[in-house]
Amino acid sequence: MSVFTVTALDKVFPGASPVRALDKIDLTIEAGEFVVLLGPSGCGKSTLLEILAGLQLPSAGEARFHDQPIAGPGGRGLGVVFQDASLMPWRTVAANVGLGLEIRGESKPRTQQIVDRHLELVGLTGFGSKYPHQISGGMKQRAGIARALVNDPEVLLMDEPFGAVDYITRIKLQEDLISIWEKHQKTIVFVTHDVGEAVFLADRIVLLSPRPGRIAETFAIDLPRPRRRGDLELLKQEARVYEALHALEAPSHAAA
Ligand SMILES: Nc1ncnc2c1ncn2[C@@H]1O[C@H](COP(=O)(O)OP(=O)(O)OP(=O)(O)O)[C@@H](O)[C@H]1O
Ligand SMILES: [Mg+2]
Repeated sequence: MSVFTVTALDKVFPGASPVRALDKIDLTIEAGEFVVLLGPSGCGKSTLLEILAGLQLPSAGEARFHDQPIAGPGGRGLGVVFQDASLMPWRTVAANVGLGLEIRGESKPRTQQIVDRHLELVGLTGFGSKYPHQISGGMKQRAGIARALVNDPEVLLMDEPFGAVDYITRIKLQEDLISIWEKHQKTIVFVTHDVGEAVFLADRIVLLSPRPGRIAETFAIDLPRPRRRGDLELLKQEARVYEALHALEAPSHAAA
C-alpha cells in the first residue's frame, strides 16, 4: 500500500527571478519504508518534504497521501521533525512533548501518561521538568522526536534532524530512530546530505540533483538489519552513492 504518491511534481518559487526547486518528481513511498532524500545543498530536499507535510503546495503535478491530494498541514497521520528541534523555550520538555495532546484536548493525567511513555522511548526519562535551555542539543532533538511521536503518527517526516549534533550523539540517535521505526512500524521520510547516515538508515535512497531538483538515481539498500558501521557491504554501498553524488556536483564534459 502506497503512503505517498508524487506524480510529475514541479515546484517553482515565483519572484523577479523564479526558482525552479523541483522538476518532474515521480516518487512512490510504501507503508513501512524508510526512505532517505539525499542531495547537495539547495537541491530541493526540504521543499519536497514540506510538500509531503502539506506546508507547501506543488506548482504542477500532485502529491497524494493515501490517495488523497495533500491540501494542507495537520492531521494525526504525520509527525514532522525539523533540523532545529524548534522547542518552545517557555515550555518545559514535557509540555513541549505533550503539545499535540493538549491541542487534541486529552485530559491532564492521560497526557502525562503518554508524555512519560514517550520521554522513556527517546531516553529522556527524568528530564520532563527541564526547560529547553537546560538540556543538550542531542536531548532537544530527542524531545523533538518525542513530540512528533505522541500522536502516534503513521509517518515521520524528518528534515536533517541530527544535523546540529556531534558525531557520537548522531550515531546514537540514528540507532534509536531505527529501533523506534522497527518497533512501531512507522513509515519514515528522512532528509540528509550525509551519505554515511543515508546508507546506514535507508531501505531506499532517493538522490536529487541540484537546480532544479530532479530524481537523479535511486538506490535500494537491501542490507540486513541491524547494520554494523564499518561493515564491508555498507561501505561498498556508501562508495556507490558517493560516486553518484560526486558526479552530480561535478558533471563530466561527456554528461554536460
Ligand atoms: N520560500 C522560498 N522562496 C524562494 N525560494 C525558495 C524558498 N524555499 C526554498 N527556495 C529555493 O528552492 C531551492 C531548494 O531549496 P530547499 O530548501 O528545498 O533545498 P535543500 O535541498 O533542502 O537545501 P539544504 O540542504 O541547504 O537544506 C533553493 O534554491 C532555495 O533557495
Ligand atoms: Mg533543507
